[in-house]
Amino acid sequence: MKIQPIRGTHDLFGNEIKKYNQIKEEVNSIANNFNFSELQTPIFESSNLFFKPLGEQSDVVLKEMYTFVDRGGDSLTLRPEYTTPMIRAAIFNNLLNILPCKVFGVGPMFRRERPQKGRYRQFNQINFENFGTENPFADVEIILLAKNLLSNLLPKIDIKLQINTLGDRSTLKKFKKELTNFFNKNSQLLSKESKNKIFTNPLRILDSKNEDDKKLILQAPVIKEFINSKAVDHYDSVKNSLNNLNIEYIEQNSLVRGLDYYCHTVFEFKTSSLGSQDTLIGGGRYDGLIKTLGGKDLPGVGWAGGIERIAMLMDDVKLNTSSIHFAILDEKFKDHALVAYNLLSKNNFSVYWNFKYNLKKSLSTANSAQAMYLVIIGEDEFNKKKFTVKNLKSSEQTLEDIDNIISLLK
Ligand code: HAM
Repeated sequence: MKIQPIRGTHDLFGNEIKKYNQIKEEVNSIANNFNFSELQTPIFESSNLFFKPLGEQSDVVLKEMYTFVDRGGDSLTLRPEYTTPMIRAAIFNNLLNILPCKVFGVGPMFRRERPQKGRYRQFNQINFENFGTENPFADVEIILLAKNLLSNLLPKIDIKLQINTLGDRSTLKKFKKELTNFFNKNSQLLSKESKNKIFTNPLRILDSKNEDDKKLILQAPVIKEFINSKAVDHYDSVKNSLNNLNIEYIEQNSLVRGLDYYCHTVFEFKTSSLGSQDTLIGGGRYDGLIKTLGGKDLPGVGWAGGIERIAMLMDDVKLNTSSIHFAILDEKFKDHALVAYNLLSKNNFSVYWNFKYNLKKSLSTANSAQAMYLVIIGEDEFNKKKFTVKNLKSSEQTLEDIDNIISLLK
C-alpha cells in the first residue's frame, strides 16, 4: 500500500518547485532593494510564544495549532505564523539595538485548517517585518514592497489593495466593548458562529461572510467613530502617501485581520481569481507586541503572503532550453565523455545524459527536452581525443577539442 502524504500537505516538484524558487528569487531581490535582511527561525517554538500574542480566542490558537509535548515534557508548537518567532529571535539576538530593524524570511507554516483550494495545513509564507518605528513611512514602504512583489510575479492578475485602521490599542479595547454590547443586544439576528464570538472575539464578527450577519454589521459601531486624532493623522498620512504614489486602494471598515496583535493600519491584497481563499498578502501594525513578547516597547509593521496562492496564479516557468545533452556510444568512451561533461558543468552549462549507450535514443531525448546541442562521443572522437558538437537547431556538427568546446558553445 502506498503511504499517503498527510492531509493538507503537498510535495513540490516539477513546475511547482520552479515557481517556488522563482518567487524566492524575486523576494530576495526586492528585500535587497528595500534593505531588509534575512532572518530564519526554527520551525518549532515554545507554545507560549503563540497563545497570548495571537489571541487565546483566535481561530489559530483555538483550533489550528500543531501543539505537542515533547519527550522532555515541554509544550512545543509548529509555527503557525512568522511574526512572533521573528520578534522572539530579534529580542534574543539583540537585533533591536539598531533601529529600524528590517527583516524578512520565507518558509513553511503549519495550521490545522480544513484543506481546500489555496488552504493547506503546511504552507509556505513570505514574511516582511519592520521593527522599531512609528513613522507611517514604514507602513507605506511595506505596502509598496508587497505591491511591487505581486506586480513583478503576477503582472496579468487583477489584485486589489484593501486598507483599514484599527486605531491605537486602548481605543481598540473600548471599541471591542462597544461591539460586544451591540451584538449582545442584537444576538437573535446573528449566525450561531458569530454568536459564539460576542464575548470572546467581537471584532471577528465584522468580517463574517454570513448574509444575516452582514445586514446587522451594517448598523454596528464603526472604529472611525472611536479613534483619536493621532490615529486619524497616522491613517491619513498613509493614505496621502498612497495617493501620491498612485497606488489604488479600497477602504474597508470590515477589515480586521484574524490575529489579535494588530492596531492602526491593516491591509490585504486580494484577487478575484482564486475562489474563497482570495487573500494573497495580509498584514498591518502591531505596536505593543514586541513588549508583550518581553522586548522593549517598540512598534512594528509587517505582512505575510502565501506562496502557494501566488504560485497558483503564475504562468508555468519556461523550460531550460540551454541544456547540452550527451550521446555516449559505448561504455569504453565514458571517461573521455566525462572530461567534457565535467568541464561544461563547471562552466555553468546544464548537462544531461540519459544513461543509454545509444545515439538514436540520446538524440530523441535531447529533442524532446528542446536541448540546444548534442555532444557525441564515439570511436572516432575517442581515438582523436575530440568531441563532436551537433547544433540541434541547424543540424550542423563539428569535431572540436576540449578547449574549443566552451568558446563554441558560449
Ligand atoms: P495571515 O493572514 O494569517 O497573517 O496569513 C498571511 C497569508 O498567508 C494569507 O494571506 C495567505 O496568503 C497565507 N496563508 C495563511 N493561511 C494559509 C493556509 N492555511 N494555506 C495557504 N496559505 C495560507 C499572518 O500570518 C501574519 N503573521 C501576517 C503579518 C506579518 N502581519 C504582520 N506581519
